[in-house]
Amino acid sequence: MRRKIVAGNWKMNKDKNASIGLVQEILQSNKLFGCEVYISPAFPFLNEISNICESTPIKVIAQNVSEKDEGAYTGEVSLDMLKSVGVDGVIIGHSERRKIYGENDEVLRMKLDNCSKNDLEVFFCIGETLEMREKGKQNEVIENQLNSTLFDLTDFKLDNLVIAYEPVWAIGTGKNASSEQVQEIHQHIRALLNLRYGKISESIPIVYGGSLKPNNSKDIFSCPDVDGGLVGGASLNSQAFLDIISSI
Ligand code: PGA
Repeated sequence: MRRKIVAGNWKMNKDKNASIGLVQEILQSNKLFGCEVYISPAFPFLNEISNICESTPIKVIAQNVSEKDEGAYTGEVSLDMLKSVGVDGVIIGHSERRKIYGENDEVLRMKLDNCSKNDLEVFFCIGETLEMREKGKQNEVIENQLNSTLFDLTDFKLDNLVIAYEPVWAIGTGKNASSEQVQEIHQHIRALLNLRYGKISESIPIVYGGSLKPNNSKDIFSCPDVDGGLVGGASLNSQAFLDIISSI
């Protein structure tokens, strides 16, 4: 059976007190989670939040990592730095990183490779724009995104991999993909994983992200090829996040 996962990507929201408050609210709910739960606070609070989450079921992941190891790269944060503060994994290839910060396939490939070599878990985001969806090219986009990054690496550790399908047109827009659209593309992604990696691909979780809310998560999570979600806006509210977690 595949792992079930719900992850909260806090993006550039919440200062120190608000971040600590949010994680404490989630922990104080005393709920037994029916899935693996991840949160992704901003860089300055990773250390403190990792400490708070130690010995709890919540794992902490970073929203980004440099593709470089160390040196004169002003403003960057390395993988070793993340590991040294107890981070369990990294979100790579988020569409905001690709679009706003120009991360290209070469950079993403390096980041994926570094994470794999260092045994950090990876949430690798892929997804089409509205323009591509309207042209019916979503499957092609996904295939190209995978071929030019992940599939190009020869020894990626698949145990550390979670694929996040995040259609760009659904992120932060309030327009989630329908469960039929999500199932169709997750099935396609699974077929691509199978072609590349064979039977072992059946154990790779594929989660959905894009305007997931408590009122649509149950439907989406019930799709056979959906193994959970990467939640943005709704993860900033403890109750909404907990409701999404319990809908899995
Ligand atoms: P959203 O963000 O839930 O606010 O649409 C999802 C994401 O960017 O991971």
